[in-house]
Amino acid sequence: MKKLSEYTPEELDVFEYENKIKFNAFVDAGLNINMARGKPAREQLDLSEAFLNSVTHHTGTFSNSGEDCRNYGLLCGIEECRRLFGEILDVDYNNVIACGNSSLVLMYDYISQCMTHGAGGHAPWAKQTGAKFIAVVPGYDRHFAIAEHFGLEMIDVEMTRNGPDMDKVEELIKDPLVKGMFCVPKYSNPDGVTYSDEVVTRLAKMTPAAPDFRVIWDNAYVLHDFYDDHAKLKNIMKEAAKYGHEDYFVEFASTSKITFPGSGVAAIAASNRNINEISARLSLQIISYDKLNQLRHCHVFKNLEDVQNHMKLHAAILRPKFLAVEEVLDRELTDLGIADWTHPKGGYFISLNVNVGSAKYVGELCKQAGLTITKVGATFPYGKDPTDSNIRLAPTCPSVEELKIATKVICTAAKLAAARALRHEMAEG
Ligand SMILES: Cc1ncc(COP(=O)(O)O)c(C=O)c1O
Repeated sequence: MKKLSEYTPEELDVFEYENKIKFNAFVDAGLNINMARGKPAREQLDLSEAFLNSVTHHTGTFSNSGEDCRNYGLLCGIEECRRLFGEILDVDYNNVIACGNSSLVLMYDYISQCMTHGAGGHAPWAKQTGAKFIAVVPGYDRHFAIAEHFGLEMIDVEMTRNGPDMDKVEELIKDPLVKGMFCVPKYSNPDGVTYSDEVVTRLAKMTPAAPDFRVIWDNAYVLHDFYDDHAKLKNIMKEAAKYGHEDYFVEFASTSKITFPGSGVAAIAASNRNINEISARLSLQIISYDKLNQLRHCHVFKNLEDVQNHMKLHAAILRPKFLAVEEVLDRELTDLGIADWTHPKGGYFISLNVNVGSAKYVGELCKQAGLTITKVGATFPYGKDPTDSNIRLAPTCPSVEELKIATKVICTAAKLAAARALRHEMAEG
């Protein structure tokens, strides 16, 4: 098949006409499909039924160390839960704080602490006029929203197939006002990239001009592999420690997409100095987190292997969904040369790049056809994709059948958008 750019004006007319008919049929079908957010599907939540009553009066409410989890105490969480996260993140459990149900709130709070009280004993970021943050793009909209909320100016650094463009990062950190960056190092949101060993080592070796530089190492998809032969992420904490740089990294994770997004357990892992600083600040906000929920998790997950086995059940649900979307994209768009997309081996998203200047229009067409996709532009700081081309697809929630239809809608919209752009080009000569 020819590339769309090689079509004659007459061929383009036919192409547009046929796709308009297809598109109108989707509109008439009255679809209502949502591929906007990375939410687990109901079948995934059902996998965790055992957590609902894994703490009862039969099991007791005491942790291994004899702490009554119903009561106040243990700000840093019960030991078995800290150990579980220690195994998941491959760090010493003494460097883990097991917290409440959301890692995002921990990241927000950490940035907030740095803004008002500084990091590592340095001046508050808010008092260092012009403090900035590196935004790896495309990236996670909620990270960008936090930076924007606190007035941290964001500087884009492009994601490559191996992680952030490290040449650019190394250049930017020469500025002492660049205070940090958000990283989703495994199955990044939305590109599904796992940072290569080389990128992790370069990050670990960084010597930022800002002594209070902090990398928010958001390991949200640490165990979210679709295949046994999965991506392997080098351990940032161990790597950074080799260069005495462990204070630059604060790691976050949660069981939101392992058990329940609304009722999981989140954790922070960090160097001794950072754990001391963070826990001292947390002690002002909370007496202790929900230890009963931590206990619930530890009754079902005794160790890392239990979690890995559980994640295989998730993978069995998610794999066919991702493959269904990729199969339609491959079939409908490959030859036309009007888009490219990722084939992730884990995580929650597929990242689709349509023709420059077309993504918003594709989003509008999808909306007209009853398909909700992530707000176009959301994968960039301030909601502005400079090339208007990236679209994040979240295939986890809809059924395989819905995903096939939804992806056909997206492909038809991408074709119409590309044809429109080409027609403009032809008109301009
Ligand atoms: C990269 C990333 N970090 C964090 C979160 C939210 O995590 P939590 O539910 O632990 O707040 C998400 C949710 O989609 C995410 O994609």
